Amino acid sequence: MLGPRGQAGSLHLSSSSLRRKWKWKGKGSALAFVLLLVSAAWLLVVFSRNCCPAHPDPDDMYGWYRVPHLNPNFSDWQRHGPNRPTLLPLTAGSNANLSLHNIVFCVAASAKLWPMRKEIVKLWWREGQMRGFVWLEEPARHDPAEHLPMVMVSEDVARLRYGRAMTHHTGVRISRIVLETFRLNMPDVHWFVLADDDTIFSTDNLVRVLSKYDPSQFHYIGGSSESHQQNLAFSYGMAFGGGGVAISYALAAALVGMQDECLEHYPELHGSDDRLHACICELGVPLTRELGFHQCDIRGNPLGLLGSHPIAPFVSLHHVDVMDPVFPGLAAHKGLQLLSKAMQMEPGSFLQQSFCYNQKQGFSFSVSIGYVVQVFPEILYPQNLQRAQVTFQAWNRKAGRREFDLDTRLSKSICWQPYLFYLDGIEAKKGDSAVITNYSRYGDIDERKKFWWCHYFPREKVITIRVTSQRLPWSWYQVPRRQCCSVTGLKDKVLDMKVGPCQPGEVIVP
Ligand SMILES: *[C@@H]1O[C@H](CO)[C@@H](O)[C@H](O)[C@H]1NC(C)=O
Ligand SMILES: *[C@@H]1O[C@H](CO)[C@@H](O)[C@H](O)[C@H]1NC(C)=O
Ligand SMILES: *[C@@H]1O[C@H](CO)[C@@H](O)[C@H](O)[C@H]1NC(C)=O
Repeated sequence: MLGPRGQAGSLHLSSSSLRRKWKWKGKGSALAFVLLLVSAAWLLVVFSRNCCPAHPDPDDMYGWYRVPHLNPNFSDWQRHGPNRPTLLPLTAGSNANLSLHNIVFCVAASAKLWPMRKEIVKLWWREGQMRGFVWLEEPARHDPAEHLPMVMVSEDVARLRYGRAMTHHTGVRISRIVLETFRLNMPDVHWFVLADDDTIFSTDNLVRVLSKYDPSQFHYIGGSSESHQQNLAFSYGMAFGGGGVAISYALAAALVGMQDECLEHYPELHGSDDRLHACICELGVPLTRELGFHQCDIRGNPLGLLGSHPIAPFVSLHHVDVMDPVFPGLAAHKGLQLLSKAMQMEPGSFLQQSFCYNQKQGFSFSVSIGYVVQVFPEILYPQNLQRAQVTFQAWNRKAGRREFDLDTRLSKSICWQPYLFYLDGIEAKKGDSAVITNYSRYGDIDERKKFWWCHYFPREKVITIRVTSQRLPWSWYQVPRRQCCSVTGLKDKVLDMKVGPCQPGEVIVP
């Protein structure tokens, strides 16, 4: 099939010269000679192509793949090299004992930003316990002392058959990361998790969430955007790449067989996640929306969003370098380190929100474990406290309630805003059944409230809130329920609270 235009052209030329020769009367032998020559040339062209495909056309990389750039020192690679047999097929029910070892992370990155972004990956990557790769468009130095995933170089998509027609090569490259990782044939892989380099993961919770699903079936798991405009532009049925996309082994295997052909149908798409979504649509697989995956398409102060986490295990947080620092008193990266420490010490209850009240004084408390305690100067029922206060803007920089794919409440005037206590310390309780988190009072908002004579939560009495919270049992994720909270004492300006399972008959009211 290759070079048909060249052959047709030469044939056409020959046949027109043939017609001219036809007019030359009495030159039959010359004509026969020319015919012979043309046939011989034709045979030569056709059969020489078929007989000796010694050098594959470098422009025809379709169906081929290059062995990616490997760091020979990567111990995992040495243990599970490309020639080890793949566990195939998985049997039904192989989700029963899912472990971190069964997940391979495919981190999408670019050579230019990787030197900065790797600091974010370091916050959650645990070398030796996790397997995965960072996919770049060109080689980058891998320093084993940094304990990061190994760097791999993606195939050059410009050289794929459809590549030259595509303008957004990065999107095509990243949408193929799962496919390229699949082809490495690593053993015991049940899930491929596509991640961005500016995302933090709770991998413990990821294991919990994925263990609900059977990797021998087709599963496409992730989250939508918080901004309606983004969902409208892409799709409400798409797993946004930044929040992480979990693809079951079976679905990845199906993608490998069709994705390159599928991508040819969508030259106009821009992103990698919408290209992947387009192909998964061709396989007829819907999105399973898990509430712990956070694309985090917001700008500004993340307090309202992170302080109202849904009752589901926290899995991921994207755009950590776009939003304001998570703790206003700390530099952005220091804040992320503290947040990650809390996340790793007690992943189950991390960011889980519980409510308690001081009815006499008219205060409502919202505790978000590992992040913040908010003290509202009025009695608010759970139905209201669980809504996100709009402390942030949507991705399009608008902040009306209709911009968000979330339940929200507008932050009213300063007097209705909460007093804030941000995490400043965390330790495991003796015996390890509970964790103690300390939250210290944020002065800025106090000053402003004092200035306007707002309903005052006395600073002279409380400057620290100490929360003792039970670790959540592993099975909590299957039937999640909000924990109950109570105020247990006040001494030396430390207000003590307890968070744990609700007692039979207990309801969350003032
Ligand atoms: C592998 O390790 C050896 C010895 O530790 C070192 O000299 C070499 O540069 C390393 N290679 C790579 C690609 O990191
Ligand atoms: C899961 O682990 C338990 C305990 O180790 C074992 O009894 C059970 O057979 C395992 N299930 C599967 C499907 O491997
Ligand atoms: C929490 O606060 C209490 C009281 O101020 C203090 O004794 C304790 O050491 C703090 N713990 C942590 C982990 O910061």
